[in-house]
Amino acid sequence: MNKNLRKAVIAGNWKMNKTPAEAKELIRAIAPLVKDAGCDVVACTPFVDLQAALEAAAGTNIEIGAENCHWEKSGAFTGEISAEMLVSMGIKYVIIGHSERRQYFGETDETVQKRTRAALDAGMTVILCVGEYLEQREQGITSELVALQTKVALGGVSKEELKNIIIAYEPVWAIGTGKTATADQANEVCKLIRDVVAELYGKESADAMTVQYGGSMNAANADELLSKPDVDGGLIGGASLKAEDFAAIVKAASK
Ligand code: PGA
Repeated sequence: MNKNLRKAVIAGNWKMNKTPAEAKELIRAIAPLVKDAGCDVVACTPFVDLQAALEAAAGTNIEIGAENCHWEKSGAFTGEISAEMLVSMGIKYVIIGHSERRQYFGETDETVQKRTRAALDAGMTVILCVGEYLEQREQGITSELVALQTKVALGGVSKEELKNIIIAYEPVWAIGTGKTATADQANEVCKLIRDVVAELYGKESADAMTVQYGGSMNAANADELLSKPDVDGGLIGGASLKAEDFAAIVKAASK
């Protein structure tokens, strides 16, 4: 993390967990533990929890985010939610292109680009996920793959809009598996993403961009991961569901 250049952001990704009542409870448990955070704190929750989470987070330093949005403003897209709908309820952050969306719900680099476009147009901050499968790492194509995902997702994004994008590097083999990338592996790919951004938008924009690591980040390994210069925060799955663990990661990012 280089706090002279950019903001550290710790974001929880609750995935398909917690009812609205449980969401309220969890936000209320997290709030006092992170109130003095020296980084931005976000909790991304299932759609049905957003209202409850917003209410519980009111007056705290916790921002609430969604886990996906559709690229159209409205229309015949059964089961989908638009960025405008999220903004209308006061949601400012949205995760786009999570590997579980890519793996199980047919998300492609092109749909990631469209969703990113829609979220930016609606005035949201996007947490854009990229990352390789184990086979791709073993084939030695991590750099090419992550660079491609980043370039396609950022297609049409202006330099000014880039300020509203956080990129999360999430190696798929490390998500929910307990297998964390080593701090050096995480830093290497976060730096590579920054180099791609520099190539597209210049060094100043790249230096200012928050690049998170995600994949089994927890209270025990956060310190080491976040000590690396290009790891500017984390996208936290499992550990974001436990107030103390999440708060410990926020504390590590606040140093
Ligand atoms: P994990 O999930 O921390 O449970 O590995 C991270 C993510 O999927 O964003």
